[in-house]
Amino acid sequence: MYSKEGEYILDPMVGGGTTLIEAKLLGRNALGMDINLDFVKLSEQAVDFEGYPRPRLKVEVGDARDLSFLKADSIDLVVTHPPYMNIIRYSEGKIPEDLSNIGSMPKFLDEIEKIAAELLRVLKPDRHCAILVGDTRRGKHYVPLAFNTMLRFQKAGFILREDIVKVQHNCDSTKRWEAKAKQGKFYLIMHEHLFIFRKPRTGEDLSRIRYSTYPSCK
Ligand SMILES: C[S@@+](CC[C@H](N)C(=O)[O-])C[C@H]1O[C@@H](n2cnc3c(N)ncnc32)[C@H](O)[C@@H]1O
Repeated sequence: MYSKEGEYILDPMVGGGTTLIEAKLLGRNALGMDINLDFVKLSEQAVDFEGYPRPRLKVEVGDARDLSFLKADSIDLVVTHPPYMNIIRYSEGKIPEDLSNIGSMPKFLDEIEKIAAELLRVLKPDRHCAILVGDTRRGKHYVPLAFNTMLRFQKAGFILREDIVKVQHNCDSTKRWEAKAKQGKFYLIMHEHLFIFRKPRTGEDLSRIRYSTYPSCK
């Protein structure tokens, strides 16, 4: 819905390559990046299938906070999925630039804001950036990581277009959490947020949509 055949999609934290697979199936060109070479290799394998349109697909090792090799206003759609702080440590502490090594929410959000600023720069005006992000718990209490990530994207200059709730059943970790939840009297988190942001047009009058910009309580 947010891109057309032949356009350019960017996923700067590509992991196992879901974005690239869908881009290939839908005939979009796509650039995937990941800080971890193992995931770059995994994504390359994931898109190694025949029988669909042949768009340009590329996967590289890189840091999502530095997209300086990309021109401003050059990408048609961003689709990405950051780590949720250190819930899953993708490089098990071996890659310092891997955001999944950060256990402090303020520190994690500062890095997310750097990514948001870069994504805003490379995205074409009036185009969209989709971020899938979830929440967690600490000491039996709810940690609204997704909500705070959303605010940092707004702070970087994005306008919130949609908050799509993705129901998340039967994760690998559900069994482990079920016992903890019963004992600690809390609910299992069974959703993630797919935030859709839009980059404003140059000189766009945002007054009518000011509640979707940062800070939302203006
Ligand atoms: C939630 S996973 C992405 C999963 C992906 N959507 C898929 O289809 O498998 C987050 C990814 O972000 C990567 N990552 C962490 N810090 C990064 C950084 N600074 N720059 C680029 N990628 C990073 C991790 O290596 C991991 O592969």
